[in-house]
Amino acid sequence: MSAHFMAQSLQQSQQRHLDELIQWLKIPSVSSDTSKIGDVKAAGDWIANKLADSGLKVETIQTQGHPMIYAESPAIDGAPVVLVYGHYDVQPPEPLNLWTTPAFEPTVRNGNLYARGATDDKGQVLTHVHSICDWMATGKPLPLQIKLLIEGEEEVGSENLERMMPELADKLACDCVVISDSSQYGPGQPAITYGLRGIATYELLVQGPKQDLHSGSFGGAVMNPAIALCHLMSSMVDREGRIAIDGFYDSVRDLSPAEREAWDQLPKTDDFAKSVGASELFGEKGYSADERRWARPTFDINGLTSGHQGEGVKTVLPAQASAKFSFRLVPDQDPTQLTDAINSHLTKHLPTGVTFKLTPDHGAPGMLADTNSRFMDAARAAITAAFETPPVLIREGGSIPIVTRFQETLRCDCLLLGWGLSDDNAHSPDEKFCIEDFYRGIQASTMLWESIGKLSS
Ligand code: BES
Ligand code: MN
Ligand code: MN
Repeated sequence: MSAHFMAQSLQQSQQRHLDELIQWLKIPSVSSDTSKIGDVKAAGDWIANKLADSGLKVETIQTQGHPMIYAESPAIDGAPVVLVYGHYDVQPPEPLNLWTTPAFEPTVRNGNLYARGATDDKGQVLTHVHSICDWMATGKPLPLQIKLLIEGEEEVGSENLERMMPELADKLACDCVVISDSSQYGPGQPAITYGLRGIATYELLVQGPKQDLHSGSFGGAVMNPAIALCHLMSSMVDREGRIAIDGFYDSVRDLSPAEREAWDQLPKTDDFAKSVGASELFGEKGYSADERRWARPTFDINGLTSGHQGEGVKTVLPAQASAKFSFRLVPDQDPTQLTDAINSHLTKHLPTGVTFKLTPDHGAPGMLADTNSRFMDAARAAITAAFETPPVLIREGGSIPIVTRFQETLRCDCLLLGWGLSDDNAHSPDEKFCIEDFYRGIQASTMLWESIGKLSS
């Protein structure tokens, strides 16, 4: 083949890879939005068809919620089995007016593809799907068995998958799970992520008088539930971000000196505060920003609702106030044990004249992967070749709820290979994915199958 012809065919396949991603991103598969059930199903069908067209055995697994798509290539004697996990559901696109171009009209600008799901997670899932489908199209057998599980409920906590894990364990059996749903350390600096934080999410309702009251007639004599909610929320955390719930830090695993030393050596990236438009960074004393994001637990308020939200003034003492809040957890904190501690804390700090109701939503523990596994070596080689830079080892602060279940149930190794960037605006307006990183991800994925294929099962 001439060099010219090869360059041309690479360009053609890259254009096809991008066009297909654009098609998939047009489907608004928002898993939390019940009016989008049909679109979520369509996004699952889209990837199921793509996988089936390449000759893989594909199955749609129904759940009590959105379906999961499972696919597998033929078993290869003596070679490892890898499970690629990812999600085709996306976060809600709101606030819509803050998008430069609409969330579900994928648009290329400055080498980035902008759309909800571009980096989280359709674009990253498709790097593996393209590498596998293209390999199948060559007619050469893959050097390992690849299974894929692409689900539609990651952004709502993966509870159905978690429930079904025992019955799916045989089907999903593998030596290593590969997940691309995280980030590089910075532009031009790829990473392998060996740890994620866990999560516990809640909704708190504070109830006061039976209906909204005139704040002139009643203010000062009846407790205001919005103020009570503010007291309760600020009682959970101090001004530095340390959580004030009794016993909260008891099971927090300390950072090892070796780990802190290694993170100190990471190449300095862009000014972090500046990149998010914050005037300065914030957080627990005695820890660097990366330590605080990756390995320290945190408390966040995700949403607050009470009283008059419309135009102008309405002097009201609201009957109710509510908050959605979450904790990021680290190994070895147990999300299921947290609810009792929060309930006691709220009871202890509850202002008089109001009652509260705490509703736990979902929880997942933090994870750590074995950094010495032979799969890590294979991933390091593949990433170094595709990104022309060796990856650094990092932890990240986000959560992939099912990942520790995979580790426990399947007793497999785990590779978190993120092709995204921390300024990709995941969960936020103008989500994007760098198109060159999309192509490099496909290449790294292809090389990963080659390197893992050389290992024994
Ligand atoms: N892809 C993210 C997880 C992630 C974020 C990994 C940042 C590494 C860095 C995933 O889609 C996600 O958003 N998970 C949720 C889980 C929650 C809804 C239960 C999260 O972390 O908030
Ligand atoms: Mn994700
Ligand atoms: Mn997400």
